[in-house]
Amino acid sequence: MTLTLHDNSGILSEEKLNELTRKNLKYLDSGNPPEWLLKNYDETLEDCEWLSSSVRQNADVLIVIGVGGSNRAARAVYDCFGSKSGVEIEWVGLNYSAREMNSLLKRIDRKRMYVDLIAKNFRTLEPGLWFRALRTQLRKEYGDEYSYHIFCTGTPGSDLKELCYNHDFCFLEFPTDVCGRYSVFTPVALFPLAVAGFDIREMVNGACAMRKTLQDTSESNPALRLASARNYLYENGYKMEMLSFFDPSLERFSKWWTQLFAESEGKDGKGLYPVVGSFTEDLHSIGQYIQQGEPILFETFLNVPSSEDRKIDLTDIPDGFEYLDGKSVNDVNNAAFRATLETHSKRFPCFEIDVPRLDEYTFGELFYFFMYTCCLSARILGVNPFDQPGVESYKEKTIASLKANI
Ligand code: PA5
Repeated sequence: MTLTLHDNSGILSEEKLNELTRKNLKYLDSGNPPEWLLKNYDETLEDCEWLSSSVRQNADVLIVIGVGGSNRAARAVYDCFGSKSGVEIEWVGLNYSAREMNSLLKRIDRKRMYVDLIAKNFRTLEPGLWFRALRTQLRKEYGDEYSYHIFCTGTPGSDLKELCYNHDFCFLEFPTDVCGRYSVFTPVALFPLAVAGFDIREMVNGACAMRKTLQDTSESNPALRLASARNYLYENGYKMEMLSFFDPSLERFSKWWTQLFAESEGKDGKGLYPVVGSFTEDLHSIGQYIQQGEPILFETFLNVPSSEDRKIDLTDIPDGFEYLDGKSVNDVNNAAFRATLETHSKRFPCFEIDVPRLDEYTFGELFYFFMYTCCLSARILGVNPFDQPGVESYKEKTIASLKANI
């Protein structure tokens, strides 16, 4: 993975970026990267591999109940490739939609199913509500044996652990010191991914390699470079960062990225607003604003070569696209990427993150890279990256209003 600055706008040069990064070197010593981003992973990998093997043999579907950090990382990988083991994953507990609930219950009827409830403390209402519906379904299908079809991932000492103990649900540990959006290398993401047949060891290997890269204590450290640029641009009126990519299979990853930065930095009246550009489709909507609207954003491009290609069909009629003859679909996508980068970087600084291919290893690298960048960036901004008081207040108020109506 490499990070390159493209700037033809005159706002940020390599020299300026070196200078900014040098000033921020002290943030590398302030307890970052947090130990817990990758903690006890040998044990976690063994547990997840072992527990997932019986689910893989006996299930058609795993229903993951969890919201926010409890599902976004695993879903980013899953949605990119689909199931590798044949066990499909359904992602629920994301809303209070009766329509979605009815539709899921219809879809999974008569299927061999397991449930993985992921909730740090089991106080969040969305997972609580969906877990009830799924328990009813499991009881209907499996009678008294239903509890063997339930896995729960929560913190030690939580109500959820007690519930598991009292009702014979298998309990997996959500480490107490890791908050949801940083939990990718815990059973939160590793267990469902193992069920879906992903090589979770490779994902952790990628993360370990990235951890090593980011131990660089010079101004070449790519996480510190991006974190420094983010803060400099924010201070200079660029209030949004857009994560752009030319492969729609990264859309779920961009949702994980959005949550990571929005919840970690958007507080105390500060923080860059994270937005996403799924190109080339979005070039035909927000592309106009990017090019000629108010100059309030800069862009980070994720450049990943497509795993597939296809020669463009020769035309049967004169259709005006003769310049496509002899080219492939990827040739066109790459031309669009280079053209976009060139035009956008004339307006504002753009970063290009090149990833050689998309697989478990590179996903591990990317997750680790962005989590560490986010920790550094929040520290430079002067906010705590590990809390989300705004989200908590919405949760508490909803629950209080429901209790008041009892
Ligand atoms: O990053 C976080 O900690 C949050 O986004 C949580 O993951 C999210 O709010 C869900 O919380 P819980 O796991 O407690 O249900």
